[in-house]
Amino acid sequence: MRTTWLFLALIVTAHATYAQSPTNPYRYQVQKQVTARHGAVVSAHPLASAAGVQILQEGGNAVDAAIATQLALAVVYPEAGNLGGGGFLVGHLRNGLNITIDYREKAPGKAYRDMYLDSAGKADTRLSQEGHLAAGVPGAVAGFFTSLRYAKLPMKKLIAPAILLAEKGFAITEAEARNLNRYAKMFRQLNTRPCAFVKATPWKAGDTLVQPDLAGTLKRIRDKGRAGFYEGETARLIAAEMQRGKGFITTADLKAYEAKERTPVVFPYKDYTIVTMPLPSSGGIALQQLMGMVEDYPLAKWGFHAPQSIQLMVEAERRAYADRAQYLGDADFVKVPVEQLTSKAYLAERMQDYEPQQAGSSATVKAGKLLQESMETTHLSVVDSEGNAVAVTTTLNGSYGCKVVVGGAGFFLNNEMDDFSIKPGVPNMYGLVGAAANAIAPGKRMLSSMTPTIVLLDKRPYLVTGTPGGSTIITSVFQTLMNILEFSLPPDQAVNAPKFHHQWLPDEIHVEPQFPADIIDSLEQMGYKVVTLRGTIGRTELIKVNGDGTLEAVGDGRGDDSAAGY
Ligand code: DON
Repeated sequence: MRTTWLFLALIVTAHATYAQSPTNPYRYQVQKQVTARHGAVVSAHPLASAAGVQILQEGGNAVDAAIATQLALAVVYPEAGNLGGGGFLVGHLRNGLNITIDYREKAPGKAYRDMYLDSAGKADTRLSQEGHLAAGVPGAVAGFFTSLRYAKLPMKKLIAPAILLAEKGFAITEAEARNLNRYAKMFRQLNTRPCAFVKATPWKAGDTLVQPDLAGTLKRIRDKGRAGFYEGETARLIAAEMQRGKGFITTADLKAYEAKERTPVVFPYKDYTIVTMPLPSSGGIALQQLMGMVEDYPLAKWGFHAPQSIQLMVEAERRAYADRAQYLGDADFVKVPVEQLTSKAYLAERMQDYEPQQAGSSATVKAGKLLQESMETTHLSVVDSEGNAVAVTTTLNGSYGCKVVVGGAGFFLNNEMDDFSIKPGVPNMYGLVGAAANAIAPGKRMLSSMTPTIVLLDKRPYLVTGTPGGSTIITSVFQTLMNILEFSLPPDQAVNAPKFHHQWLPDEIHVEPQFPADIIDSLEQMGYKVVTLRGTIGRTELIKVNGDGTLEAVGDGRGDDSAAGY
């Protein structure tokens, strides 16, 4: 009897301490804007941003905080935070070094070019988007361990907040409840085992989500390192899940997965230096093309949201996305003419046929259709007190990836295979088309648009940013940068101003619902087809380093995105 009481008392104490932790996991608030003196983290969820700041305060640097924030997101933001997906980290370190880490998923060894075509050669995008066959070999955990090279604290410490959140649970937000309910039917259809995300009655805001299987996986990673995911029990559970669902990923694929350090894309823009992600992201190359194409025009004079400014940016976008579709793919597999595509001479040549006040026209390749639904990726930005800056974009691709939770391991798998061009000219879920450069091959990484980006001024971090949004990622980052570097908007407006997007095909300008009607009229008069979306474009997380060294962190108003700092 005495022991029982003591045991209960211990549980109650542990629970009380947890509930009193800096950010109470059952009662927390979104903070859209924070000004901090020492360090700041902005991510898609308040509990994840809090985990990052906790690590900064415990002596970690920006890389430590980025790892801890991603691990926390894998628990509190299951639609995009992940262990079963992949991502990119871009960093600028206090010693001046720029780094990028590529932990993009890879096609399994059994994958082949036409794996999503039926016997008549017709592409089946349902198979590349839903269920086991849509999953690429996850890269996230390998990415965390490769990132550790630049961190100060041990994984044991960085993973601790995530383990607590998974084991003891946290209150879900209204948006999370809505999303879980929206996909409940698919979760039921596509899963082979019970999982924490499916319950008999609908989810509502404030419900506690407890993830014991995920806590088990996180503990294996804590205790066994990389091998706690890519080998042993977790690998066995993934392979067993694949066998039950007729997917391709094997234990051999998992064991062979490696994250890679890449040479960053670095280029000047006026007084600034842009540091961003190279292939297998198309984002860095496209951003360099976009900024290179508009640099010599008087954007600042024309002004923010002036139809002239928008038109110039749209025409640059048309050209960059056309190149993306034709030339870009995993450079470990295909030769990509990066130097030519980004040279000033080539970019000037590309703009030769740009006509002010007159809509251009995309080539005749079959137009893609942009789907605004079922999108989920997530970005986080971190700056620490030492002058290190980190931008990470990570993804399962669609919301909750392929919707399959690994039985017994508690995490969603990605549906990143849809980012390959499954057939030339067939649009993927973001309406993007591609060619041979981005065709499926075993072990190849699928082309991405994720564009984690750091802007340096006088060799120091000035802006740290990025966003989800599929094909719109590149244009969102481009606009956010232009909003500050050219149009001098304050950071919150730069993030929250309504956005526009053009991606070559379909030959349309997509605008957010709040986009001003008079600007739409002006663009239509120039001959553009303007489509007002039902949904929003991107969820940008931005940190600006002010002249006095203070940090202004802004979480996008479009979601639960939340800033934290100290
Ligand atoms: O890597 C890519 O480009 C896509 N898988 C990103 C997906 C995404 O941003 C979905 N989010 N809203």
